[in-house]
Amino acid sequence: MTPTSSLKLTWSSALESGDRATDVQHKYLIEIINELAEAIETGKAGQSIRKILNLLKQYTDWHFCREELCMERRQCPAAAANKEAHKHFMRTFDAFAEEYKVSGGSEDIAMRMYKTLTDWLVMHIQKIDTNLASCPDNGCSR
Ligand SMILES: [Fe+2]
Repeated sequence: MTPTSSLKLTWSSALESGDRATDVQHKYLIEIINELAEAIETGKAGQSIRKILNLLKQYTDWHFCREELCMERRQCPAAAANKEAHKHFMRTFDAFAEEYKVSGGSEDIAMRMYKTLTDWLVMHIQKIDTNLASCPDNGCSR
């Protein structure tokens, strides 16, 4: 991926988790988040954020569930911490989504949400998801 703006996230090898399917899913999550970045940068966050948030919520739910299963199957020591971190993320996400809904959608909330979500995601992948690399690969994701 090549950055096309200052806000957008760029995939790098530092984000490789040690599981190919998880990486593909993370790349798609980054694509969705970059749509949010584009909406903010073009001043269209108010119009398109609802659609982006719905997609992000649905995909994140599915991805977290799949990633948690993969960690369990590979007996990854980070599995419990991963589950906890996912729960925390969903609470943060839901709080932002609610704030956005109640406020009617300001660009300020969109920006704060974008910053919080991207900082969390990058840190989470690097700190927790990359633990998959040191767990036995039993082919759970193939
Ligand atoms: Fe995770």
